[in-house]
Amino acid sequence: MNSATKFEIFLGTQPGLERVLRDEAIEAGYKKAKTVNGGVTFWGDWSDVWRANLTLRGPSKVLARIGTIRAFHLAQLDKRARKFAWGNTIPPGLRVRVEVVTSQKSKIYHAGAAAERIERAMAEDHGVIIAKDADDAQIVIKARIDDNNVILSVDTSGAGLHKRGHKQAMGKAPLRETMAALLLRACEYNGTEPVLDPMCGSGTFIIEAAEIAAGFMAGRSRRFAFEQLATFDAAQVAQIRRDWQEAHPAPSKLQGFYGSDRNEKVIGFAKQNARRAGIEQFCTFAPLAISSVKPPAGPPGLVMVNPPYGSRIGNKKELFSLYHAFGEVMRDRFSGWRIGMVTSDTMLAESTKLPWLPTNAPIAHGGLKVKLFQTGPL
Ligand SMILES: C[S@@+](CC[C@H](N)C(=O)[O-])C[C@H]1O[C@@H](n2cnc3c(N)ncnc32)[C@H](O)[C@@H]1O
Repeated sequence: MNSATKFEIFLGTQPGLERVLRDEAIEAGYKKAKTVNGGVTFWGDWSDVWRANLTLRGPSKVLARIGTIRAFHLAQLDKRARKFAWGNTIPPGLRVRVEVVTSQKSKIYHAGAAAERIERAMAEDHGVIIAKDADDAQIVIKARIDDNNVILSVDTSGAGLHKRGHKQAMGKAPLRETMAALLLRACEYNGTEPVLDPMCGSGTFIIEAAEIAAGFMAGRSRRFAFEQLATFDAAQVAQIRRDWQEAHPAPSKLQGFYGSDRNEKVIGFAKQNARRAGIEQFCTFAPLAISSVKPPAGPPGLVMVNPPYGSRIGNKKELFSLYHAFGEVMRDRFSGWRIGMVTSDTMLAESTKLPWLPTNAPIAHGGLKVKLFQTGPL
C-alpha cells in the first residue's frame, strides 16, 4: 500500500455520539464520512489517518483497514495470513497483538483461535513478535470476521485518543476528553463563548473548551502507534502540524473558562492539568460549593456540567438535593446562559426544574447509559 492508496478509515466513539463525531469529521474535510455502529467511516489515505489522529477531538481511536483475508476454516486462515503482505504496513520486530472483535455469518466462530493463527503466521513468516498482552503490544490489529471474510484493521492511535498527554491528576469519575469534546460540540460550542463548569472535577470540560477556543491541536503532546508503521512519513506529518499552526494562529483575546468544585483537592488537579495543557492563563478554577457559584462578568455562554450520579458516586437523597440546588442557582442567576448537563438519571435531571429540550439517544459511558440534557438560553 503506498501512501496515496485509499482505504477505509474508522473513527471509534461511544454508541450514541456517532452523529456528533460525523459532523466533526465532515467539518474537518472528510466530506463523505458516514455513521456506523460505534463510529464513523470514510475512505482516505495515510495522510488522512495521521491528520485524523492529530487534529480531531472526538474519536477514541482511528483504525485503518489494511486488507481482508477470505477464510472458511482455521487452516485456510493460517495459510492465507502467511501470504498476506503484512510488511507493507507492519515492519518486522514490533510487538503485535491481534484481537478478533466479532465473528458473524462465518464458519470460523472461535475468535481466540482465529487471533492466535493470525499472530502465529505474522510471527513465523513476517518477523513480528507476539505481544504478551494488550499492554505489551506496540501495534494492535483488530479483526472482524463477517461472511467468511476476515477484515483486518490496524489501530493507528495506540493509547486511546482521550489521552491527550496533559491530564495526570484526576478526581473520581473523570470524563474522557474525547467525550467532553463531542458533548461540547453537541451543545453547539464553537470556541467563541465563555464556558463554566460548577462541578468541574479535574477540569475536563473547561480545559477542552479552552483548547478549542485557543485553536490548539488535540494531539500536539502525544505519540501515536502510526509512527511505528512502515507507512509513516515524518516529513508529511510535520507538514500536517505546520498546516494546523498556520490555520490556527494564537488568538489575541479569549473568552473566559471557569471551573469550580466543592472539593479543593480536585481544583488543584484541574489547575495542574490546565497548566500542562498550556491554557491556564485563560482558565479560572475556584473551590466553591454549587450554592456559591455566580456567573462571571461579561456575556452569557454555556454551562457544561457532569454532576455526580447514582451508581458511580454519591447517595440518592443527597443527589436529589444537589440537582435541585444546581437548578435553583441556574434559574436564579444564569439568565441568558445555555446549559448542557450529562447524567444517567432522568429523574435527577427533572429535579433541577430546568427547561430541558427533548433529549437525544443515550450514550454508553463507563458501563452506564448517560444522556445529554440541554436548555436554550435561560
Ligand atoms: C462526576 S464528577 C465531575 C468530573 C469532571 N467532569 C471531570 O472530568 O473530572 C462530579 C463532581 O461534582 C463535585 N460536587 C459534588 N457536589 C458538589 C457541590 N455541592 N458543589 C460543587 N461541586 C460538587 C464533586 O466534587 C465531583 O468532582
